[in-house]
Amino acid sequence: MFEQLQPLASDPILGLSIAYLQDTNPNKVDLGVGVYKNEAGITPVLSSITQAQAILHQEEQTKAYQGPAGDALFNQTIQTLIFGAELEARVGERLRTLQAPGGCGALRLAAELFKVSAAAQGKTSAAAHRNTEAPTIWVSTPTWANHIPLLGGAGLTIREYPYYDAATQSVNFDAMAETLQQVPAGDIVLLHGCCHNPCGADLNTEQWQQVAAIAVDRGFVPFIDLAYQGFGDGLDEDVYGVRLLADTVPEMLVASSCSKNFGLYRERTGALSVLGSNAESTYNAFTQMQSIARGIWSMPPAHGAALVAKVLSDDVLRGQWQGEVAEMRVRIATLRGQLAAALNDAGDFSFIPRQRGMFSFLGLSEAQVEALKNEYSVYMVGSSRINIAGISQNNLEYLAASIKAVL
Ligand SMILES: Cc1ncc(COP(=O)(O)O)c(C=O)c1O
Repeated sequence: MFEQLQPLASDPILGLSIAYLQDTNPNKVDLGVGVYKNEAGITPVLSSITQAQAILHQEEQTKAYQGPAGDALFNQTIQTLIFGAELEARVGERLRTLQAPGGCGALRLAAELFKVSAAAQGKTSAAAHRNTEAPTIWVSTPTWANHIPLLGGAGLTIREYPYYDAATQSVNFDAMAETLQQVPAGDIVLLHGCCHNPCGADLNTEQWQQVAAIAVDRGFVPFIDLAYQGFGDGLDEDVYGVRLLADTVPEMLVASSCSKNFGLYRERTGALSVLGSNAESTYNAFTQMQSIARGIWSMPPAHGAALVAKVLSDDVLRGQWQGEVAEMRVRIATLRGQLAAALNDAGDFSFIPRQRGMFSFLGLSEAQVEALKNEYSVYMVGSSRINIAGISQNNLEYLAASIKAVL
């Protein structure tokens, strides 16, 4: 059975981590893999989560199945965190949320829902025009590396809209809007809710308003990947686009992840929220989502979701968690300013503090990235995407000197 299989190359970011671990240079710096790190270089378990874990340990009475929709309290509390109580009250039963194994699980579940919905419609008018059954999803150029295999592998047709302009280190919004104005009705447009991975350049409020207006005009379905709520400008500020769209468009989806803002990476905790044009269509979509989940992972893992539900439903733990998210956000913003200042005499790096979240492109060539790795033990992805959280007061000076040396 397996004799004809060819080996696959290991994931480049994973390969980078292995090379970093094997590097014996005491000054080595890891800006590769996308996990938050504190000043000590550790991805910590948040203390709000440790406390929730202790309470859960006392309270938990069963490990019996929860069902494909997962933890009801998690679904309710995460939905309120994303959409806000006021908007939730306004849209009522047009909105439902289902627990998924991480943001990746939510993205995959959405892809399956798009296929089921397209099949139920016969061909969408857009698909009929292209003579294909597969729903089309438009992703930003560039987008998170896993979007393409994840959504394409699920059978969606992938198309791209222009997004990041390396020359101005910001969003080329005119080009983006021009392409979105051509998107056929019924297609899906994937948007990063905040803290764009990999480029760190986000839409401003006027640009979100324009995207919402184009979505209504064209009739495409916005689908937001929300993996960094709280890492940009604040827990509410970072979902401006999500809430604006939910208030404006008839249908949309949000795939959210608790990996970063709750530090629950390996617990695989996320959700898919669906907003339908009416309560009945949302309910129908929700039953389809449960059936799809049942056919892939059957039920999501319980532990991470139980911790999030505990933190968000307990005023004291919630306040503590908000403080911890603020701490991570402020650390990243501070490092952005410090790196730009340290590189100041080598060029204009003022874009670094203008961007948000954990990632930015330094704008280096592949040869410069290679030289940083081979000569200075500074590790980053080939595109020169850096994880800002990998910087610390200990390595900042060495990092800046190394970057200047290869420039
Ligand atoms: C943009 C984006 N979306 C989704 C995810 C998925 O996160 P997870 O599946 O770990 O919850 C990530 C993780 O790095 C991400 O960066």
